[in-house]
Amino acid sequence: MTPFIPLIFLLALGLAVAPSSGDQGAELGGSETLKILGLGESLEQLQDKLKQAVIGQPLSITFAVLSQICSKIVDLGLVRPKTIPDMSRMNFLLRTDECHNVSIPLTEAERLWEAPGFYQDRPTVIFITGWRSTISESNSAPVAKAYNCRNDTNFVLLDAANFIDTLYSWSALNTDAIGEYVAKALLKLNRNYVVENVYVVGHSLGAQIAGSTGRHFRQLSGGATLARVTGLDPANPCFYDGNDLEGVRSGDARFVDIIHSNPGILGTAKVVGDADFFVEGLFAFKSGCEGLNDISCSHNRAVEYFAETVFRTNTNNFLGKRCDRYANLWFRRSCSDTRTVMGYDASASDLGIFYVDANAEEPFGQNANKNSFTSSNSQCGAC
Ligand SMILES: *[C@@H]1O[C@H](CO)[C@@H](O)[C@H](O)[C@H]1NC(C)=O
Ligand SMILES: *[C@@H]1O[C@H](CO)[C@@H](O)[C@H](O)[C@H]1NC(C)=O
Repeated sequence: MTPFIPLIFLLALGLAVAPSSGDQGAELGGSETLKILGLGESLEQLQDKLKQAVIGQPLSITFAVLSQICSKIVDLGLVRPKTIPDMSRMNFLLRTDECHNVSIPLTEAERLWEAPGFYQDRPTVIFITGWRSTISESNSAPVAKAYNCRNDTNFVLLDAANFIDTLYSWSALNTDAIGEYVAKALLKLNRNYVVENVYVVGHSLGAQIAGSTGRHFRQLSGGATLARVTGLDPANPCFYDGNDLEGVRSGDARFVDIIHSNPGILGTAKVVGDADFFVEGLFAFKSGCEGLNDISCSHNRAVEYFAETVFRTNTNNFLGKRCDRYANLWFRRSCSDTRTVMGYDASASDLGIFYVDANAEEPFGQNANKNSFTSSNSQCGAC
C-alpha cells in the first residue's frame, strides 16, 4: 500500500471540482464553484491547500475538512458527475483459475453464464475495490487467492480501470452511477440465479458501489433482492453526513454485513448494516499498523481480515461480542461474548453491533487454530 492514499483521495476530490472540459459538465464552472466554497481561485491552489493540510495538520482535522468540502459540494448540488462513466468500458473480470481471467463487458454480461471457466452450479462473488488507480494494483489479490483456494465459487472482479485512470470518475460522486451499471449487468443474467447466488463484496468506495448495486438491482427488478452485500470499511468522506450521497446500508440486500477497520477516518464509524463488526472497536488504528502507513494500513485491514476468513480452515477465526450500546464499542469487556462469526461465514440471523479482537499480524483472527490455519502466503490458490 502506498502511504499516500489519503492524498490521492484528496486529489480525486480536488478533481471532482475541476472545471469540466466537456459540456455535460457542472452547472457552474469550476472556478466559480471554488469561489463559492471559499477555497481559492484555481484547482491547483485547492490541491496545494489540500496537500499542505495533509502534511501540516493532524489527520483528524484534515479529514474533517475533507468531509466538509465534499459534503458542501454535494449539498449545494454544484457538481454533478461530469464524466458519465461509460458502461461499455467497464468489465467483469472472471477468474477462471489461479492464473487466468476473462474480461466480459458489463454491456454483454449475459456472456458470463457461458464463459469457459464459469461454473453454473457454483455461487458467484463480485468484488469491487476502492479508489486505487488500476485493477492490477488493487488489493483484490488476497481475496481472489482465498476464493481460488476454496475452488467452489466463481470470482469476478469489477474492472473499471479504463476510466478510473484519472481517479476522477471513481470519486464519491459517481459511486451511485457505477452501482446502477453493475445492477443492469446483473439483470442480464438469470434472475433466480442472481437472487440466490450472487454476493457482492466491496472495499472503501467499492463498498458504497456494492450497496448501490443492491439498491438499483431491487428497484430495476421490481423488488427482487440480492442475498448479501458485504462492505469492507465503507468509505467515510462525503457519505453519511446528512447529504444525499447514499452509502451502503441495511436493506441493500437481504443481509448486509460490514467490517469496520478505520472508523472515523477513511472508513465510516456509523452503524450502517444489519451486522456491523468493529474490529478493535472504535479505535481508528489497528494493531500492527504503524508509522506513515497507519491510516491506509488500517483501512486495508478490513480486506485482509475478510480474505483470511475465506480460507476453509479459517472461517471461525474472528468471533465477535455483541454490544448493546454503540458506546460500548470503546470497552470490549462491556460487550457480551456471543462468539458471532465475522466475515465469509457470517450468519444472516446474527444481527447487531459487534466488538471483534484481532492480532497485529497473521493470523489476524484471535480464534485461529495455529495448527490448521491457512496463511495468505500459502500455496493454495496461488498462481
Ligand atoms: C488477467 O489475466 C491477464 C493475462 O491472462 C493478466 O495479464 C492480468 O494481470 C490478469 N488480471 C488480473 C486482475 O488478475
Ligand atoms: C477445482 O474444481 C474443479 C471442478 O470440480 C476441478 O476440475 C479442479 O481440478 C479443481 N481445481 C483445483 C486446483 O483443485
